[in-house]
Amino acid sequence: MKNLTAQQLRSLWLEFFSARGHTVIGSASLIPENDPTVLFTTAGMHPLVPYLLGTPHPGGKRLANVQKCVRTGDIDEVGDASHCTFFEMLGNWSLGDYFKEEMIRFSFEFLTSPAYLGIDVSRLAVSVFAGDEDAPRDEESAKIWQSCGIPKKHIFYLPKKNNWWGPAGTTGPCGPDTEMFINFGKPCKKTCSPACDCGNYLEIWNDVFMQYNKKADGTYAPLQQKNVDTGMGLERTICILQGKTSVYETDVFKPIIAAIEKASGIRYGEDEVSIRAMRIIADHIRTSVFMLGDPNGITPSNVDQGYVLRRLLRRAIRYLRQLNAQADALTKIAAAVIGVYKEAYPELTLNQEKIMQELSREEERFSKTVANGLKEFDKLCGYLQGGIVSGKAAFKLYDTYGFPLEMTVELAAERGLTVNTDDFYKHLSAHQEKSRAGAEQKFKGGLSDDSQITTRLHTATHLLHQALKTVLKDDGANQKGSNITAERLRFDFSFGRALTKEELANIEQAVNAAIAADVPVTCQEMTAQDAVQSGAIGLFSSRYGEMVKVYTIKNYSKEICGGPHAARTGELGTFKIVKEESSSAGVRRIKAVLE
Ligand code: SER
Repeated sequence: MKNLTAQQLRSLWLEFFSARGHTVIGSASLIPENDPTVLFTTAGMHPLVPYLLGTPHPGGKRLANVQKCVRTGDIDEVGDASHCTFFEMLGNWSLGDYFKEEMIRFSFEFLTSPAYLGIDVSRLAVSVFAGDEDAPRDEESAKIWQSCGIPKKHIFYLPKKNNWWGPAGTTGPCGPDTEMFINFGKPCKKTCSPACDCGNYLEIWNDVFMQYNKKADGTYAPLQQKNVDTGMGLERTICILQGKTSVYETDVFKPIIAAIEKASGIRYGEDEVSIRAMRIIADHIRTSVFMLGDPNGITPSNVDQGYVLRRLLRRAIRYLRQLNAQADALTKIAAAVIGVYKEAYPELTLNQEKIMQELSREEERFSKTVANGLKEFDKLCGYLQGGIVSGKAAFKLYDTYGFPLEMTVELAAERGLTVNTDDFYKHLSAHQEKSRAGAEQKFKGGLSDDSQITTRLHTATHLLHQALKTVLKDDGANQKGSNITAERLRFDFSFGRALTKEELANIEQAVNAAIAADVPVTCQEMTAQDAVQSGAIGLFSSRYGEMVKVYTIKNYSKEICGGPHAARTGELGTFKIVKEESSSAGVRRIKAVLE
């Protein structure tokens, strides 16, 4: 087995797939664009959903990348040997190109060939789908594995719970998968399998054979094209390759842990309590740095992504205080994170100043509120009946004193109390005017089941943008902002006066004419300069990098945009403007729907 650094593994992955006809695409933003139903990118396939559903991808049918991901569903597990809220996923995709045979052979070669990971076949185990009423038993994958050299006894048939992958259990592209495990050779019992949580099997790679679209009524419709979606966890894999027992001891965490040791004067490994605290600090600061340094960067706040960031940061600060760390610990540790990732993610260095500023600001804000909040907390606890902190009280601590929910839960636990978190979510939902299910789903980082709707609204936004320029005869009617939810689009543009009824009717008509024409939406990659020269409109900045995507809707629209878009305008339905109003001086706002 090869001992590889994280950077060597990233390079080897991309080299392997690029040599096999895959286009290497960059990591998408951690903050999904135009997908309001999910807070963070949770897997490499997530930004690719429209392409898995059939929209042609500009990179072709074979893609590979290294994707930054955030999953906060298991935040309570962070502190053990392997859980992290941020991770990198090495991924490759076949969009209607190769399927099981070729993919399993790719996987086997990458895992076992001495030119790549060089893992001994005897250390591997795989699982395949056992079959049920929705899809057959995957004998085909089992046979291919066997022909590669995986012995029968190391091939396990497991049910949907284990061997099926779909985005966050909701609707959308999904299918049976085959998973690859490191077998530590110490099964806990005769029937021990990768489904067992004794720790004998560690999953490192998952090949999903994405051939169904799970519909809202729970049925599975075959997809137009059979796709492959795979993901290998970078942290776990280097942990194995580097012969470590915890991801926190691998080369991506070492310098971060060293910075925590320095700031706290405690040696990592001294005792269980400080090991856990140091891992939580390392994980949460690493995730926060990536959130702050993302091209779609966010800042701490009380809603949505900003709230998740606030929770992570405040929790890290609390643990730093428990370890009596030095005053500047937060920024020192953040600097170590940037140091580790500067090569793979240059955006962190680019945004270093912002990252450091925001960290210091949030620490200051937290210090100010925490003292008052703790007083309030003690006051509340004094009145408690039955050892339960009410959702209302937890919400007050959150809303007025900036206490993230789990901080209240942890403080309560220290005093032998529990918190009514269900009730907290009710107050939170009422506050944010969002459904409780929605709020919780977002919290857990689930995936949208509305991505097709928002994709259509995204395409409608392009048509609207051009229609505004055409109808208002004003090339200066430029985009100032855009926001899309599953219900509507919202578009802000520079224009000096209210639009007349007639203008609004003409704009609607222009957009609906483009829809009625049912023309394809095509995409080309080119340099930003060529795009502008070709007459493409649209907001863009260096964050799109050198090359930009230009989406053309016949002669109705040509716009620079990150995508994704509907395949044809005919999919859009009827476009209707529901509101036109002032947004700020010289900026108008239109809200519109597709019916
Ligand atoms: N989407 C699958 C996963 O997250 C494979 O990439 O495991």
